[in-house]
Amino acid sequence: MTSTYRINYQLRQHKRDGLIEFIKLTLSTSFVLYDEAADADISSSADEKSALVRSKERYAEVMSGVEKLINDHIEMQKLGAPEHSRLHRLVPTVSTFCTPLPLRKAFLLADAQHTISARRFVSPSFNDIRRILNTAQVCAIAPTLSLITFDGDMTLYDDGKDFEQDSTLVTLIIQLLSFDINVAVVTAAGYTENAESRYESRLSGLLHGFQLSGLTNAQLGRFHVLGGECNYLFQLGDDYHLHFVPQEVYQPEQVRAWSQNTTEIDAVLDIAQANIQKCVQEMNLPAMVIRKTKAVGLVPQPGATILREILDEVVLSTQHHLLRYQRSPSVLQAPLPFCCFNGGSDVWVDIGNKLIGVQMLQAYLNAKPEETLHVGDQFLSTGNDYATRASCCTLWIINPQETHEALVQLTDILEKQK
Ligand code: IMP
Ligand code: MG
Repeated sequence: MTSTYRINYQLRQHKRDGLIEFIKLTLSTSFVLYDEAADADISSSADEKSALVRSKERYAEVMSGVEKLINDHIEMQKLGAPEHSRLHRLVPTVSTFCTPLPLRKAFLLADAQHTISARRFVSPSFNDIRRILNTAQVCAIAPTLSLITFDGDMTLYDDGKDFEQDSTLVTLIIQLLSFDINVAVVTAAGYTENAESRYESRLSGLLHGFQLSGLTNAQLGRFHVLGGECNYLFQLGDDYHLHFVPQEVYQPEQVRAWSQNTTEIDAVLDIAQANIQKCVQEMNLPAMVIRKTKAVGLVPQPGATILREILDEVVLSTQHHLLRYQRSPSVLQAPLPFCCFNGGSDVWVDIGNKLIGVQMLQAYLNAKPEETLHVGDQFLSTGNDYATRASCCTLWIINPQETHEALVQLTDILEKQK
C-alpha cells in the first residue's frame, strides 16, 4: 500500500523510528543502485553466485558503518555530549545506547535465515531492520545480562489474554531464572482490588510451569511482577504465589512523594478523563471510559474495534492537554509523571511510567543499564514501552512469537557461555 494517504500518514513523527528509518534508507541506496544478477552479461550461475556474495557484502558494509556510528555516539555519551555525535546529526531523535551493537554480525545471521540480500524486488524493510537490531542487542547483552523485564500484553500473551500453560515462553522464562537472572513482568495493567489473584490469573500458565520447574527458592524469588507501569510490585514466593512488596521497600523517597499525592493524581486524571470523554462524544466512538485510582482508560465496547488513527488522536490530544496543564503557572510542584499510550485496541493514561518502573527495579535488584533488557511491543512514541529506552537495552517485538525467537537466541548464547 503506497497511497498518498499512507505516505502522508508515514510522515507523522509518532509513526516513525528515526534510527530504523535511517538504516533502511542507507541500505536502500545499495538496493537501488545495484542489481548485478539482472545484468545482461551475467550469464553463468557462477557469476550469479558471486553477484549475490557482493550484494551481501555491500549490505554488511553498511551495517559495519552504522555500528561505527553507534560506537562513536557511545563515546560522546560518555563525555556527556551525545548531541555532538555524527549519528545525532544524522538522526536527531536517536536515543541512548547502553551497549555497542554488533550489527554486521546480526545482519549476516539474519541474512542466512531470511536471505535479505538475495531479494531483487523487495528492499530491506522496517521489520527486517527491527529484527536485526534485536539480534544485535541479544548478542551484546548476553554476557552481562542481570535483569530482563517483559511487557505483558502482546509480548508474553495476546492482547487481553492470559499466559497459557502451553505457551513456549514458559520453558524459556524458567531457563532464564535457572541462569540466576532476575525476571520481571512490567505491565501497564493495574489492579488494586484482589490484586495478587488478578495478576496470578493473568500469569496462570507461567505460575503453573514454575511449580513443575525444579527451580530453587532463591531462583523463584528472582521473579517479580510490576503492575500499573511502576505502582504495584509483587514477588514470587516458594509457595508459587505472588506476594505484595510494600512500597517503602523498593520505592525511593521522590517516587513516594508523588505516588501518594492523591490531590495532584486526581487533578491529572480529571483532565485526562475530560479530554477522553470529549473525544468519545465528538468522534462518536463505541467506547467506555474506565477510571481507576491511578489510571483512566478508553476501552471499546464489547464487539467494537476502534481504528489506530482514532486511538492515536485520543493519545496525542490527551498528551497535549496534560502537558499544557502541567506547564501552566498554576501548577507549582514538579510535574507528575504520567504515561498516555495507545495499547493497540484501547487508550490509557497511567500515573507513572515504565522508565520509572525499570529504574526502580534496577536499583532494587542491583542491575546497571547495560545489564538490563526490556522486551516490549510498544516502542513508537505513542506506546508505553518507549520510555524504557532511556535507561536500559531494549528488544522491540511485535507478538509473543517474536519474543519466543529472541529468547531462543538469548538462551542459546547463555547456554554456550555456561
Ligand atoms: P502491557 O502491554 O502489559 O503494558 O499492558 C497494556 C494493556 O493493559 C493495555 O492496552 C490495556 O488493555 C490493559 N490494561 C488493563 N488495566 C490497565 C491500566 O490500569 N492501565 C493501562 N493499561 C491497562
Ligand atoms: Mg504491550
